[in-house]
Amino acid sequence: MNFQLTYKSKATPGVTNDTIKEILKSARRNNAVNKISGCLVFLENHFIQILEGDKELVKDLFETIKQDSRHSDIELLCWDDSDERLFNSWGMLYFDNQDLQSSDLSEEEFKLNLLLLETLSKPKSASEIKFWKAIKDLLITSGQITN
Ligand SMILES: Cc1cc2nc3c(=O)[nH]c(=O)nc-3n(C[C@H](O)[C@H](O)[C@H](O)COP(=O)(O)O)c2cc1C
Repeated sequence: MNFQLTYKSKATPGVTNDTIKEILKSARRNNAVNKISGCLVFLENHFIQILEGDKELVKDLFETIKQDSRHSDIELLCWDDSDERLFNSWGMLYFDNQDLQSSDLSEEEFKLNLLLLETLSKPKSASEIKFWKAIKDLLITSGQITN
């Protein structure tokens, strides 16, 4: 049985692109070994992450992640068993709105990309629904999308 877990946290002040690169390097290496997949989103200085895989391995990883000083205010949003995986390759997909600042992507394109990703993934489980809702709430708070 596959297990999914979604949480939200605040990035520690001073977290940079290099910090995130380091996190992703560890995540991709370790998650491949443990057959854990998921998606990490960085928006408005917050992380939102969904992790999926074997229940014990995902719970252990979450315990490790909770101790990480690169973020704080960790809020577990949902965890549940699910029939399928949302992401079918091990590792960690990463998504942020950095491109918005460098103006390669318009706000409208960013919003469309995000909504397309949500549509393609057809969220089914409670964890997946909470994951997308947390992202949308942050975007609404930051004024990047309207409800
Ligand atoms: C927001 C956030 C997400 C993380 N996600 C993962 C992850 O998916 N997998 C992982 O192994 N480590 C993740 N980490 C890093 C762990 O907290 C920890 O530093 C790492 O697992 C240590 O492994 P290493 O010694 O191999 O680098 C994350 C850290 C943060 C702050």
